[in-house]
Amino acid sequence: MTPSAASTSATAVRNPVHLAPVPYKLVGVNAALKAASDPSFEVKPEIFSEFSLKGKTAAVTGGDGGLGLEFCIVLAELGAAVYAIDLPTSVSSDFEAAVAYCKKLGTSLKYKSADVTDPEQVNAVFEEIASENEGKVDVLIAAAGILGSENDVEKYPPELFRKVMDVNCSGVFYSAQAASSIMKRAGVAGSIILIASMSGSVVNREMKWAAYNISKSAVIQMARSMACELGQFGIRVNSLSPGHIRTKMTAAVLDVEPETEAFWASLNPLGRIGAVHELRGVAAWLASDASSFCTGSDILVSGGHTVW
Ligand SMILES: NC(=O)c1ccc[n+]([C@@H]2O[C@H](COP(=O)([O-])OP(=O)(O)OC[C@H]3O[C@@H](n4cnc5c(N)ncnc54)[C@H](O)[C@@H]3O)[C@@H](O)[C@H]2O)c1
Repeated sequence: MTPSAASTSATAVRNPVHLAPVPYKLVGVNAALKAASDPSFEVKPEIFSEFSLKGKTAAVTGGDGGLGLEFCIVLAELGAAVYAIDLPTSVSSDFEAAVAYCKKLGTSLKYKSADVTDPEQVNAVFEEIASENEGKVDVLIAAAGILGSENDVEKYPPELFRKVMDVNCSGVFYSAQAASSIMKRAGVAGSIILIASMSGSVVNREMKWAAYNISKSAVIQMARSMACELGQFGIRVNSLSPGHIRTKMTAAVLDVEPETEAFWASLNPLGRIGAVHELRGVAAWLASDASSFCTGSDILVSGGHTVW
């Protein structure tokens, strides 16, 4: 007798999904029920503590400026020991101000120089961070990226195409590999956030950025692929896809063609481009236990750009 389709497919699964217990947490309705049955139970808001990163170690690539530096500050505000990783051997004045600010807040922001396109440098810098933090890294935000210049697709220079892919795709992959192997080794249920872009899902109207768009699609699929492999270890991997935000990267266009800002603003229902601080909440959510059931997702924060 031939086996049924169901039994064939069941035995064909090479790596059955590891079943994990559903966590119980004394918050929300659980806390309300506890309070109803136990008058001595101390009632207090828990939502902010669910975002806490106290005792955690976080690394942010591309952290010397732009979105990366904003991510560094929000992670530090949540209590993590934060390390920015970026290309320059000496930091920007914005970074210096951020270090002083974090010090005043009683948290720590440090800098390590590395090129994310070099896997040896990336591994070495992540091992250095782990060695300074009891062998662990709990959070990675991979924000290092480049835009590349505008080019007609058929004339896109191969060396620039390779460079964009190298930084935006390979560099993000090497960073996520290094962080996840440390998380696995340390038994840490970490959170990895890969900075993609809305350009990984839609094409920026009238902007000839083929290599950038292609590289960002790869990052979105990278997050899904890594999430599938790492879920059994409790490690979550998501991509975060911002829309147009003024940073050094976009200033390269906006400062040269100021009319472009109004054009980009007209492409979303809010009628404006975004500011770096508008990614603080989503970064805090993805990095912390507040998003504990979110993995393999692409979170679009674009002022609604993709709905039109
Ligand atoms: N600004 C936007 O509108 C926007 C929108 C969507 C996505 N993004 C993405 O957000 C991320 C941050 O961009 P940004 O706007 O802050 O740009 P930015 O140019 O201000 O910051 C990028 C950072 O990456 C660093 N970097 C570049 N190559 C590197 C390398 N090889 N090794 C290490 N660090 C390297 C740069 O030195 C810089 O500090 C990028 O991945 C970008 O694609 C930006």
